[in-house]
Amino acid sequence: MENFPVINYEKLNGEERKSTMDKIKDACENWGFFELVNHGIPHDMMDTVERLTKEHYRKCMEQRFKEVVASKGLEAVQSEVIDMDWESTFHLKHLPQSNIFEIPDLSDEYRKVMKEFALKLEKLAEDLLDLLCENLGLEKGYLKKTFYGSSGLPTFGTKVANYPPCPKPDLVKGLRAHTDAGGIILLFQDDKVSGLQLLKDGKWIDVPPMRHSIVVNLGDQLEVITNGKYKSVEHRVIAQTDGTRMSIASFYNPGSDAVIYPAPELLEREEDDKKHMYPKFVFEDYMKLYAALKFHAKEPRFEAFKAPNNVNLGPIAAV
Ligand SMILES: [Fe+2]
Repeated sequence: MENFPVINYEKLNGEERKSTMDKIKDACENWGFFELVNHGIPHDMMDTVERLTKEHYRKCMEQRFKEVVASKGLEAVQSEVIDMDWESTFHLKHLPQSNIFEIPDLSDEYRKVMKEFALKLEKLAEDLLDLLCENLGLEKGYLKKTFYGSSGLPTFGTKVANYPPCPKPDLVKGLRAHTDAGGIILLFQDDKVSGLQLLKDGKWIDVPPMRHSIVVNLGDQLEVITNGKYKSVEHRVIAQTDGTRMSIASFYNPGSDAVIYPAPELLEREEDDKKHMYPKFVFEDYMKLYAALKFHAKEPRFEAFKAPNNVNLGPIAAV
């Protein structure tokens, strides 16, 4: 089996730049996922984020999770649960506006480090988008600009999740299979407790835990903008019977009123039959549809925006 792509980010600054860019290109075209090491985010900052996330889970989330599990009888299920995930989560918003001071139960130290960590991730996401532009032959800054709505800002947020030990991981998924709706996703995952899997060539493949790495994956919006050159890839989380898995996923997405469509420069290079594969829509309209259909295949979502007389065409026509 091919190896899961691991990119040594540092090598972009040296003799191995070309081969590293090629590796990123191959990962984007064939995996929709890659793992970054030596990405420049300080390891001690990541250690603090991990320590405080785990501490916060134990102090503020664990008991609540156990109560939910008990009230739904999830430990005793006999058949597959298809409408719930075995996860404990909370969400932070960073851009266009931060909500970090509105989230209850976070210590000052935790808020501070999450803010600093988010700034580093935002910069890394933007640098990665430019690397993708370079590999795609698009002007530097194109993807970033495409993501800016009228506010000139992306939507950037973090889902902090823990996947506690699950007695029946085959019947209750940590997180059911889906593709991510947005742009580029940067994940700081547990380095000991595995569980994230992606679907490649019809097989579920583990995304290997690796200390201090950042896992990167591409969302539906990049698939549309690249006209399918890069695809969002289905993934899921299998909770483990042993150990709690930490997952801190940050989503660098378009601004809510950003208009998303295949890059004209890429379409020019396509054969005629590939020029109408993807629709044009306003990102928040896509998100409304996604909210209802997250755990369904992405294709009907794209099709819904292609359909004539679609109600969602209104705002697009006005842009
Ligand atoms: Fe996801």
